[in-house]
Amino acid sequence: MTTFWSTWICVLTLGSLIGLTWLLVGTRKGETKGSVDQTMGHAFDGIEEYDNPLPQWWFMLFAGTLVFAVGYLILYPGLGNWKGVLPGYEDGWTQTKEWDKEMARADARFGPIFAKFSAMPVEDVAKDPQALKMGGRLFASNCAVCHGSDAKGAYGFPNLADNLWRWGGSAEAIKATIMNGRHAAMPAWGEVLGEDGVKNVAAYVRHDLAKLPLPADSTADVAAGQTAFSATCVACHGPDGHGVEAMGAPNLTQPSGFIYGTSLAQLQQTIRHGRQGQMPAQDVLQGNDKVHLLAAYVYSLSHNADSATPESQAQ
Ligand code: HEC
Ligand code: HEC
Repeated sequence: MTTFWSTWICVLTLGSLIGLTWLLVGTRKGETKGSVDQTMGHAFDGIEEYDNPLPQWWFMLFAGTLVFAVGYLILYPGLGNWKGVLPGYEDGWTQTKEWDKEMARADARFGPIFAKFSAMPVEDVAKDPQALKMGGRLFASNCAVCHGSDAKGAYGFPNLADNLWRWGGSAEAIKATIMNGRHAAMPAWGEVLGEDGVKNVAAYVRHDLAKLPLPADSTADVAAGQTAFSATCVACHGPDGHGVEAMGAPNLTQPSGFIYGTSLAQLQQTIRHGRQGQMPAQDVLQGNDKVHLLAAYVYSLSHNADSATPESQAQ
């Protein structure tokens, strides 16, 4: 900041403080202690104005803010080029420096704990109550917006607490999903199949694969839908519709895992226009240690029920 602007800010700030102090003290002088209410001596349509002293608490509060302002301006860089004398910030306080210091403190405190868990396999971390607590907190602040606070998902966002996985439910697959993100690409088939084709294949998916009933007045040709499915859909969803994890193509025989709905209209919409679900990568945002804890937390949601199986007890 140039000296001119620095001086300009000092004059404005200190001028305002002095002005306000004068206003506060100056107007108080005119008050007569213990006086009965006096009026200002004017009346508008018969309404008069009292000339009461400021309430004591109000005066003290105002005086307090002035004292605070002076203290603040000495400690923090508020006056032009003045850097402040806050201990620990010899070169002047900034938000960034305070944040960096806090992060350094947190790293010193939690670093060893993170390192301990990072060196363990995700499956073992998923059985550690302290790790799950930390993972749960990370999940609440980074994942719950999309997957829900109970991780049970919502329209467009998969349930992470069940045993159905679009990209794989092994510890490695879950960690890879969180670390690198996932971009699902279900192509739009409306133009290829035509409107009737879309309706037929949607009916086939709902009736034969998902095993859900069709409306009694359905005119869709399920057999034609099956033919279309074998020609166009099996490449990704597999010959029996069980899905292919490498592509994130979901199992179409498990309607409870559908994230875009199971009604005919919703299935047709998916097939007609395609879908591009995106799981954002967390590598840069969270780093390996936190992703490791998150993966363990997610893994625990669907695996902790069987953590008491004889096999794991024997270990
Ligand atoms: C902006 C929304 C969003 C946020 C935030 C988000 N996710 Fe996701 N996540 C998705 C979507 C959408 C998918 C499904 C991608 C697809 O269509 O295949 C997904 C998929 C997943 C999957 C794969 C599920 C499966 O069936 O294979 C896992 C595991 C996952 N997320 C974990 C997390 C974790 C842990 C976090 C927090 C660090 C997180 N997600 C944050 C949107 C989000
Ligand atoms: C190129 C690979 C590919 C082909 C071909 C493909 N799909 Fe998909 N499909 C996907 C992927 C990937 C998803 C997941 C989209 C997402 O999560 O956003 C998906 C999702 C779906 C869904 C939604 C499931 C849910 O979770 O709600 C339905 C229904 C579906 N596909 C049906 C079909 C049908 C019917 C065909 C053939 C006409 C077909 N798909 C062809 C890859 C494919």
